[in-house]
Amino acid sequence: MVEAGSDQKFDLDLVDSLVAPYLGRKEMAIPILQATQEQFGYLPRPALERIAYKMNIPVSRLFGLATFYAQFKLQPRGRNIIRVCMGTACHIQGGQKIGDRIQEILEIKVGQTTPDLRFTLEEVACIGACALAPVMMINDEPFGRLTPDRIKKILDQYS
Ligand code: FES
Repeated sequence: MVEAGSDQKFDLDLVDSLVAPYLGRKEMAIPILQATQEQFGYLPRPALERIAYKMNIPVSRLFGLATFYAQFKLQPRGRNIIRVCMGTACHIQGGQKIGDRIQEILEIKVGQTTPDLRFTLEEVACIGACALAPVMMINDEPFGRLTPDRIKKILDQYS
Protein backbone atom coordinates (compact mmCIF):
# COMPACT_ATOMS: atom_id res chain seq x y z
CA MET A 1 0.00 0.00 0.00
CA VAL A 2 1.15 3.52 -0.77
CA GLU A 3 0.03 6.77 0.77
CA ALA A 4 -1.68 8.85 -1.89
CA GLY A 5 -1.34 12.41 -0.70
CA SER A 6 -4.49 12.66 1.37
CA ASP A 7 -5.50 9.88 3.72
CA GLN A 8 -6.50 7.67 0.78
CA LYS A 9 -4.39 4.55 0.33
CA PHE A 10 -4.20 2.34 -2.65
CA ASP A 11 -2.51 -0.77 -3.80
CA LEU A 12 0.03 -0.59 -6.60
CA ASP A 13 -0.99 -4.11 -7.61
CA LEU A 14 -4.31 -2.55 -8.54
CA VAL A 15 -2.53 -0.06 -10.79
CA ASP A 16 -0.61 -2.94 -12.34
CA SER A 17 -3.85 -4.73 -13.10
CA LEU A 18 -5.17 -1.61 -14.85
CA VAL A 19 -2.02 -1.35 -16.93
CA ALA A 20 -1.77 -5.07 -17.72
CA PRO A 21 -4.12 -5.16 -20.75
CA TYR A 22 -2.09 -2.39 -22.38
CA LEU A 23 1.48 -3.43 -21.66
CA GLY A 24 3.77 -2.56 -24.55
CA ARG A 25 1.17 -0.30 -26.17
CA LYS A 26 2.29 3.23 -25.36
CA GLU A 27 -0.44 4.71 -27.54
CA MET A 28 -2.96 3.46 -24.97
CA ALA A 29 -1.86 5.91 -22.28
CA ILE A 30 -5.20 7.74 -22.28
CA PRO A 31 -7.36 4.64 -21.71
CA ILE A 32 -5.00 3.68 -18.87
CA LEU A 33 -5.41 7.13 -17.30
CA GLN A 34 -9.18 6.86 -17.71
CA ALA A 35 -9.25 3.46 -16.01
CA THR A 36 -7.02 4.76 -13.22
CA GLN A 37 -9.20 7.78 -12.61
CA GLU A 38 -12.29 5.62 -12.64
CA GLN A 39 -10.71 3.48 -9.96
CA PHE A 40 -9.41 6.22 -7.65
CA GLY A 41 -11.58 9.20 -8.56
CA TYR A 42 -8.47 11.13 -9.64
CA LEU A 43 -4.93 10.43 -10.79
CA PRO A 44 -2.74 9.96 -7.72
CA ARG A 45 0.90 10.79 -8.31
CA PRO A 46 2.19 7.36 -7.16
CA ALA A 47 -0.18 5.74 -9.67
CA LEU A 48 1.15 7.93 -12.49
CA GLU A 49 4.71 7.03 -11.52
CA ARG A 50 3.82 3.35 -11.52
CA ILE A 51 2.12 3.58 -14.93
CA ALA A 52 5.14 5.42 -16.32
CA TYR A 53 7.44 2.70 -14.99
CA LYS A 54 5.34 -0.19 -16.28
CA MET A 55 4.73 1.38 -19.69
CA ASN A 56 8.22 2.83 -20.08
CA ILE A 57 6.72 6.27 -20.67
CA PRO A 58 8.21 9.43 -19.09
CA VAL A 59 6.03 10.45 -16.15
CA SER A 60 6.17 14.02 -17.49
CA ARG A 61 4.27 12.81 -20.57
CA LEU A 62 1.51 11.38 -18.38
CA PHE A 63 1.30 14.64 -16.42
CA GLY A 64 1.15 16.46 -19.75
CA LEU A 65 -1.83 14.37 -20.85
CA ALA A 66 -3.49 14.70 -17.45
CA THR A 67 -3.27 18.49 -17.53
CA PHE A 68 -4.20 18.83 -21.21
CA TYR A 69 -7.47 16.92 -21.00
CA ALA A 70 -10.09 18.50 -18.75
CA GLN A 71 -11.55 15.08 -17.92
CA PHE A 72 -8.53 14.23 -15.80
CA LYS A 73 -8.15 15.35 -12.20
CA LEU A 74 -4.83 15.39 -10.43
CA GLN A 75 -6.33 16.13 -7.04
CA PRO A 76 -8.76 13.99 -5.06
CA ARG A 77 -12.39 14.98 -5.40
CA GLY A 78 -14.75 15.45 -2.51
CA ARG A 79 -17.54 13.04 -1.61
CA ASN A 80 -19.95 15.85 -2.50
CA ILE A 81 -19.53 18.06 -5.55
CA ILE A 82 -20.94 21.57 -5.28
CA ARG A 83 -21.58 23.29 -8.59
CA VAL A 84 -22.40 26.97 -8.24
CA CYS A 85 -23.99 28.45 -11.31
CA MET A 86 -22.27 31.53 -12.69
CA GLY A 87 -24.45 31.82 -15.80
CA THR A 88 -25.94 35.19 -16.67
CA ALA A 89 -29.28 34.80 -14.86
CA CYS A 90 -27.62 33.52 -11.71
CA HIS A 91 -24.91 36.16 -11.87
CA ILE A 92 -27.52 38.92 -12.08
CA GLN A 93 -29.39 37.41 -9.14
CA GLY A 94 -26.33 37.32 -6.89
CA GLY A 95 -24.63 34.06 -7.78
CA GLN A 96 -21.26 35.51 -6.89
CA LYS A 97 -22.38 36.11 -3.32
CA ILE A 98 -23.47 32.48 -3.10
CA GLY A 99 -20.08 31.33 -4.33
CA ASP A 100 -18.33 33.69 -1.92
CA ARG A 101 -20.35 32.41 1.03
CA ILE A 102 -19.56 28.78 0.21
CA GLN A 103 -15.87 29.60 -0.07
CA GLU A 104 -16.02 31.41 3.24
CA ILE A 105 -17.74 28.54 5.06
CA LEU A 106 -15.61 25.77 3.58
CA GLU A 107 -12.39 27.81 3.48
CA ILE A 108 -11.60 26.67 -0.05
CA LYS A 109 -11.51 28.36 -3.44
CA VAL A 110 -13.33 27.30 -6.59
CA GLY A 111 -11.69 24.18 -7.97
CA GLN A 112 -10.51 23.03 -4.56
CA THR A 113 -11.51 20.21 -2.21
CA THR A 114 -11.81 20.43 1.55
CA PRO A 115 -8.99 18.62 3.37
CA ASP A 116 -11.50 16.13 4.82
CA LEU A 117 -12.70 15.37 1.25
CA ARG A 118 -16.23 16.34 2.20
CA PHE A 119 -16.73 18.86 -0.61
CA THR A 120 -15.28 19.91 -3.94
CA LEU A 121 -16.38 23.33 -5.17
CA GLU A 122 -16.82 24.03 -8.87
CA GLU A 123 -18.39 26.79 -10.95
CA VAL A 124 -20.59 26.05 -13.93
CA ALA A 125 -22.32 28.11 -16.60
CA CYS A 126 -26.10 27.68 -16.58
CA ILE A 127 -27.53 24.43 -15.30
CA GLY A 128 -30.86 25.08 -16.99
CA ALA A 129 -32.82 26.29 -13.97
CA CYS A 130 -32.55 30.02 -14.62
CA ALA A 131 -36.06 30.71 -13.26
CA LEU A 132 -34.73 29.61 -9.87
CA ALA A 133 -31.61 31.80 -9.97
CA PRO A 134 -29.32 31.90 -8.18
CA VAL A 135 -28.82 28.17 -8.23
CA MET A 136 -26.33 25.57 -7.11
CA MET A 137 -26.26 21.80 -7.34
CA ILE A 138 -24.85 19.49 -4.73
CA ASN A 139 -24.27 16.18 -6.43
CA ASP A 140 -27.56 15.71 -8.33
CA GLU A 141 -29.71 17.89 -6.10
CA PRO A 142 -30.53 21.45 -7.19
CA PHE A 143 -31.01 24.34 -4.76
CA GLY A 144 -32.67 27.48 -6.12
CA ARG A 145 -33.53 31.02 -5.08
CA LEU A 146 -30.53 30.90 -2.80
CA THR A 147 -29.48 33.55 -0.38
CA PRO A 148 -26.11 33.56 1.38
CA ASP A 149 -27.72 32.96 4.77
CA ARG A 150 -29.24 29.63 3.58
CA ILE A 151 -25.94 28.12 2.55
CA LYS A 152 -24.61 26.88 5.88
CA LYS A 153 -27.79 24.96 6.67
CA ILE A 154 -27.76 23.31 3.25
CA LEU A 155 -24.10 22.31 3.51
CA ASP A 156 -24.70 20.87 6.96
CA GLN A 157 -26.95 18.23 5.39
CA TYR A 158 -23.95 16.62 3.69
CA SER A 159 -21.31 14.49 5.38
S1 FES B 1 -27.87 30.91 -15.44
FE1 FES B 1 -27.90 29.76 -13.63
S2 FES B 1 -29.32 28.20 -14.10
FE2 FES B 1 -29.23 29.33 -15.91
